[in-house]
Amino acid sequence: MNIVILGRPGAGKGTQSKLIEQRFGLSHLSTGDLLRSAKDQDTPLARKISARIDRGNFVSDELIMSLVEAEIRQGQQVGYIFDGIPRNVSQAKLLAHLLGELSCQVDVAIELCVDDKTVRQRLLDRAKLEHRKDDNDETITHRLAVYQVETAPLIQHFQEAGVLSQIDGDGTPERVFAAIEKVVSQLESDDD
Ligand code: AP5
Ligand code: MG
Repeated sequence: MNIVILGRPGAGKGTQSKLIEQRFGLSHLSTGDLLRSAKDQDTPLARKISARIDRGNFVSDELIMSLVEAEIRQGQQVGYIFDGIPRNVSQAKLLAHLLGELSCQVDVAIELCVDDKTVRQRLLDRAKLEHRKDDNDETITHRLAVYQVETAPLIQHFQEAGVLSQIDGDGTPERVFAAIEKVVSQLESDDD
């Protein structure tokens, strides 16, 4: 099974992906994590990535798809939780094509619905504990604006594909996960 997890920056995609991974044995593929580890290397590509993501700007579809394809082709996973990809409609089409070549598909796109004010506070709180360069007031504002323009249209895209499941992401992580667990368990039993 392949799951796409959608939501604003700070909606809880990473947090919930880890819980889904533990419960359902799927592999968590976070493009943000892939890019952050790539940027820690001392190469021209790493500096290019840094210059984009530290300011909340996307890297190219080409770069992201090559990273994702390399991950998927080397793994023998039962399925993935795609966290951070797709991030625009063009990436959704490229991902569908890639999965199609492997005879699979996106089975469900779970949107974590959380408002701007709440995610902003979560990211500012995280900034006190972790040191992500994109977790500051100005860059958060930019990331939220980019989300609206680039990523929000994916909601309609997945709705039209008949795979969208919207979940209230504004509870404790455990409560949010309980709602996700219901959706994924239902899909698993439909598959049997
Ligand atoms: P990415 O790493 O994907 O960042 P993001 O989408 O901005 O989201 P975050 O990771 O900040 O938040 P999250 O939703 O995972 O929430 P989390 O669980 O951490 O991407 C970073 C950058 O990389 C992008 O801006 C872009 O530049 C680039 N990039 C990535 N993918 C790309 C692509 N496909 N194409 C092009 N460029 C790409 O939770 C946030 C905080 O809230 C945590 O502190 C957590 O503990 C807390 N929290 C979580 N859940 C709850 C809850 N229920 N209640 C209270 N607190 C909670
Ligand atoms: Mg994340």
